Amino acid sequence: MSYFALVPAAGSGSRMGRGLPKQYLPLAGRPLIFHALATLAAVAAIEKVFVVLAPDDAEWQRHDWSGLGEKVAVLRCGGDTRAASVTQGLRAVMGDVAAEDWVLVHDAARACLAVAHVEALIREAGADPVGGILAVPVADTLKQAGEAVDGMNRIAATVPREGLWQAQTPQMFRHGMLLDALEFAPVVTDEASAIEALGLKPRLVPADATNFKVTYPLDLHLAELILASRSQ
Ligand code: C5P
Repeated sequence: MSYFALVPAAGSGSRMGRGLPKQYLPLAGRPLIFHALATLAAVAAIEKVFVVLAPDDAEWQRHDWSGLGEKVAVLRCGGDTRAASVTQGLRAVMGDVAAEDWVLVHDAARACLAVAHVEALIREAGADPVGGILAVPVADTLKQAGEAVDGMNRIAATVPREGLWQAQTPQMFRHGMLLDALEFAPVVTDEASAIEALGLKPRLVPADATNFKVTYPLDLHLAELILASRSQ
């Protein structure tokens, strides 16, 4: 049984408000996606790291990927949604990856992923028959917005935060089970939801807030600070 990583990177990153797809924005001197790929490739247990690009991606070849090593392989089979990109990627690697092998699916935009968190996921979720995900307990008080009044958002209810976790990635499941799950429930925003739709209960493995998804322009500055603090 082996471990593989799959990084969907076929999104347009429209919330960034920049022309370049988010995964290629400069971050600490490299394209944003470089950092997550380098971290996954540095995990000894991971055999190969597959990046799923959009079929018409013209950016990848414009950048310098030196330093990533031999483990990273490019697949040009991304789809219209994240779930479609992951599903197509899982189908494309069927020759290399067996049904019982573990696949760690990771968002290209979680640039500050730490090797120690990946190792914890492999150790803890790998000991579970279903698999699991990195996540953090919710720290803020959560409000459910009701109908807007006079164009202003208003609180309809407070959602108790006890027992609530924010899902992160990597999300680690067996190749065969994950592909079956995504084919059964293709409209999901993460892999765990598809597994849950099969009636299974993935493990929650605690990570921390540094593994956030770079989404808005300010996030690039925060990610640079985190990466710089680690290289000191
Ligand atoms: O848009 P969001 O930040 O949720 O995207 C999460 C991840 O899924 C990103 O790495 C993005 O590139 C990827 N994605 C994809 N194919 C899509 C949409 C998003 O691979 N069609």
